[in-house]
Amino acid sequence: MTELQLKELLADMSLGEKIEQLIQFHGGFYGDVKLITGPGHDYTIKPDQQWRIGTVLGEAGYEHLKNLQDGFMEKQPHHIPTIFMSDVIHGYKTIFPVPLGQGAGFDPELTRELAEATAKEASAAGLHVTFSPMCDLSRDARWGRCMEGTGEDPWLNARFAEAMVLGYQGDGIEKQGNIAACVKHFAAYGAATAGRDYSGVELCERTLLEDYLPSYEAAVKAGAPLVMSAFNTINRIPCSTNKWLLRKILREQMGFDGVVISDYGAVQETVVHTSSCDKADAAAKALKAGVDIDMMSDCYLSYLEEQAEANEELCRLIDESCLRVLELKNKLGLFEHPIRGSKELEDKYFYCEEHKELSVRAARESATLLKNDGLLPLSKNSKIVVAGKLATSTNIVGSWAIFAEADKTVTFADAVKRRYPEADVEVYPCDEADEALLAACKTCDAVILCIGEEDDKTGESKSISDVSLCKAHQTLFDAVYGVNKNTLSLIYAGRPLAIPMLAEKSKAILDAWYPGTFGNIGIWELLFGDANPCGRVPMSFPYTTGQLPMSYSAFITGRPIGEWKGFVPFASNYMDVPNTALYPFGWGLSYSEFAYSPVSLSSDTLTADGKITASVTVANKGSVDGKEPVQLYIRDVKGSVIRPCRELKGLRKPMIRAGESVTVSFEITADMLRFYNEDMEFVAEPGEFQVWIGGSSLTENGAAFRLV
Ligand code: GLC
Repeated sequence: MTELQLKELLADMSLGEKIEQLIQFHGGFYGDVKLITGPGHDYTIKPDQQWRIGTVLGEAGYEHLKNLQDGFMEKQPHHIPTIFMSDVIHGYKTIFPVPLGQGAGFDPELTRELAEATAKEASAAGLHVTFSPMCDLSRDARWGRCMEGTGEDPWLNARFAEAMVLGYQGDGIEKQGNIAACVKHFAAYGAATAGRDYSGVELCERTLLEDYLPSYEAAVKAGAPLVMSAFNTINRIPCSTNKWLLRKILREQMGFDGVVISDYGAVQETVVHTSSCDKADAAAKALKAGVDIDMMSDCYLSYLEEQAEANEELCRLIDESCLRVLELKNKLGLFEHPIRGSKELEDKYFYCEEHKELSVRAARESATLLKNDGLLPLSKNSKIVVAGKLATSTNIVGSWAIFAEADKTVTFADAVKRRYPEADVEVYPCDEADEALLAACKTCDAVILCIGEEDDKTGESKSISDVSLCKAHQTLFDAVYGVNKNTLSLIYAGRPLAIPMLAEKSKAILDAWYPGTFGNIGIWELLFGDANPCGRVPMSFPYTTGQLPMSYSAFITGRPIGEWKGFVPFASNYMDVPNTALYPFGWGLSYSEFAYSPVSLSSDTLTADGKITASVTVANKGSVDGKEPVQLYIRDVKGSVIRPCRELKGLRKPMIRAGESVTVSFEITADMLRFYNEDMEFVAEPGEFQVWIGGSSLTENGAAFRLV
């Protein structure tokens, strides 16, 4: 439809009909669930009104959605189709590594491919929109949803966010095979106080703008047509009624002109937050703040119409929001093609060979080798004992894999039978050491201990106060290690766990994150050396929970450890653990041995509109081909406000053949050096800068330049 036709349609709609377009219900309203006992039991819904609302949450499957859409087109007075949206955040049927695992891959291009494959399967199943990318930066492993984001770094998160949008949306959201992205959760949901889900966010504006917003902005700039307002508060105002956040920052500053949808019931929750008096007040506040769609609450549906009849401004805002929803439906091509997908496409794409291979590759390239005292790679002739319940668990795909089928998931124990049927592997799926296990461990060449947390221990509302490895797994490790020192700790987890004891004793530690449907096949390929680990830490591993939240990109403070020359070392430190991470951002081992040349700069002076090039030559001195995430960090030595000790500003991940070298170059411009100065102007300030290029945030391989 043309814009004029959309406006004519809007003009022909009643006020009630326009408001119905601003509602999202989940599938419970369309099954045989009785409304009075099922979802929305306290909603005042008119007969058949659920068939007239603008969008539906959480349903999928071509046949099912075709039937639903037929109902909408028949019962909606202007036959306006609905939009089917769901959480498809790391695969639809074929599940890929969780986003935090993808973050460990340090490869946004691979993530774009995963999003592209996800879109093929989800659109085959009739979906129009996915509630992804989750752009929430997190520096607190206590927060259960850090698994759904790509880690602690603003610049890297932004690269992953744009890669997901480009992968989902491909050559146009109206095309079969693509789905529209929804950027969430706006904003800074990952900074929940004390790492507790849904709690408030207490950030200074500069930290919010510089650290937490870049990933959302990158996703918006990449063309995402939806943004979801978060549950949390910003400046002590819930995001869904936060005009400064949704209109000034999102629409004016970031230039977003798409649809804002609230998170599940978040509009109604502003009453519980105590900043809205009742549902009517919540509805008016959210609409004025800029929320177009009220997801799973009846604030808009039951409390807007009466207010708007006597309020010109509300009527105007309802028209604006309804037009944005109609424009989204038009961009999706729904007026011409309301039904997406087909049975044939489902059969073609679900678990197809290409997606299976992609799942294996993604797990191979995101698993992170944290420690290796020569135990890995294992010989294929080794006698191996595998222990731990996680070895036979299918709960290693991550939460939100809501359309996946557990019986398709290849467990770690199954994967070795599939990929290396001749391997001598005995599996003991127990979390307590018994005589049989210990006897087997005594005589084998290596023990692989599958430990960590099943995927129902992370995700929404799964925050924990202690991120240590659970006691049962520590006890299991001690028992096994006590009879065989050649123990590999294979960790499945949705967060960086505090593992100082493993770091001290385990001969090797490989973090598989949650590798997905077929990912365990890739894990075995790493263990037997048919693949070379190249994952890197996306989120700092603490020694203890007490260090959280934490990041490599910290501030020096006025009393840094070791530099304080005062009369008594009163420094910013803990008495019981270091300030630094056990395994810091960007850290990871390989079977190769990479050596970096010193950083060379094309000039040591950068002008405001110029650029300089920073280069290194990376040699693979090892005997195995390998990929190396080459990381560029920059420090602004002095600023009108304090500046972080270093910030990631560039990344490459070249394959470097054994015995060969590659030269990696990065362009540095003044634009990359901008921050919010003391007057909150986003500027780069002349002065001295340090630059490092290396294989982790620990690199000291550096040079200096001046911005003039
Ligand atoms: C949930 C989550 C959000 C999800 C939405 C719809 O509460 O916070 O990430 O997209 O509801 O399922």
